[in-house]
Amino acid sequence: MPPWFKKKQQRGFGSGDAGYARLVDNSAVDLSHGVILYLEDITVSFDGFKALDRLTLSIDDGELRCIIGPNGAGKTTMMDCITGKTRPDSGSAYFGQAMDLTRMTEPEIAAMGIGRKFQKPTVFERHSVFENLELALKRDKRVRYSLVAQVDDEVRDRVSDTLQRIRLEGEAERMAGLLSHGQKQWLEIGMLLMQEPRLLLLDEPVAGMTDDETERTAELFQSLAGQHSLVVVEHDMAFVASIASIVTVLHEGRVLAEGTLDKVQNEPQVIEVYLGR
Ligand SMILES: Nc1ncnc2c1ncn2[C@@H]1O[C@H](COP(=O)(O)OP(=O)(O)OP(=O)(O)O)[C@@H](O)[C@H]1O
Ligand SMILES: [Mg+2]
Repeated sequence: MPPWFKKKQQRGFGSGDAGYARLVDNSAVDLSHGVILYLEDITVSFDGFKALDRLTLSIDDGELRCIIGPNGAGKTTMMDCITGKTRPDSGSAYFGQAMDLTRMTEPEIAAMGIGRKFQKPTVFERHSVFENLELALKRDKRVRYSLVAQVDDEVRDRVSDTLQRIRLEGEAERMAGLLSHGQKQWLEIGMLLMQEPRLLLLDEPVAGMTDDETERTAELFQSLAGQHSLVVVEHDMAFVASIASIVTVLHEGRVLAEGTLDKVQNEPQVIEVYLGR
């Protein structure tokens, strides 16, 4: 068992999969300095327009960070750079101490333990909730299938554990297409969790959710922090206030302000950007 896993167990976060043998090997990332993600001077231009303009940002291991900012600030583009979907013109993106994401392909980055959730849920509508979770792992080439029977047991345990985490244990046999919008979002988060990501990127996860679903999502994210690192882009300030200790405000491809929500909301440059939109 890698030392970081023990450390997480001692910290006592969450109840979920602590104590599990890991099915997925993504232990290569060096977290010795406690930083999971470090973006340095990232610039992305589209036809001369800088969507990201020397963006520098650091996320600690186990942190739950919210990124806010007006439309067009570069939030989604930032996630595209982290996941390898977009290559920056310049700058670097380190996962842990040594791994430069800008030199890796999208599948390599995913295999290293970065999971991303887009806004629209993409579950297999004609499969049950249980099967969706199972499939999420079976598609994962990193899972060791040498001892098939044993893995099947482990997969089943992992699925029930994840079902509890995302609070869909009562819906396991239900067809995913019949879930509410919020439940589909949780299922998709569960599918990411099956792959044991170190870092989860979530773009506007509570858009379209009911107040009750939003509240449950806040609880879910808080229970995941510590075991995972989360970067959450959201426009819903009440939600942000309920989960984030540190908020980063992006504007025109740069960090405009960073700190507690209370602090950044009172900074004149932030007020100006939000009132001016
Ligand atoms: N593929 C692309 N081609 C051209 N311009 C793009 C492309 N992707 C993003 N942009 C532009 O880059 C800027 C940043 O876009 P991005 O989607 O990152 O903003 P955002 O902060 O996620 O906004 P929102 O809150 O509306 O989702 C915008 O002006 C957008 O029009
Ligand atoms: Mg966006």
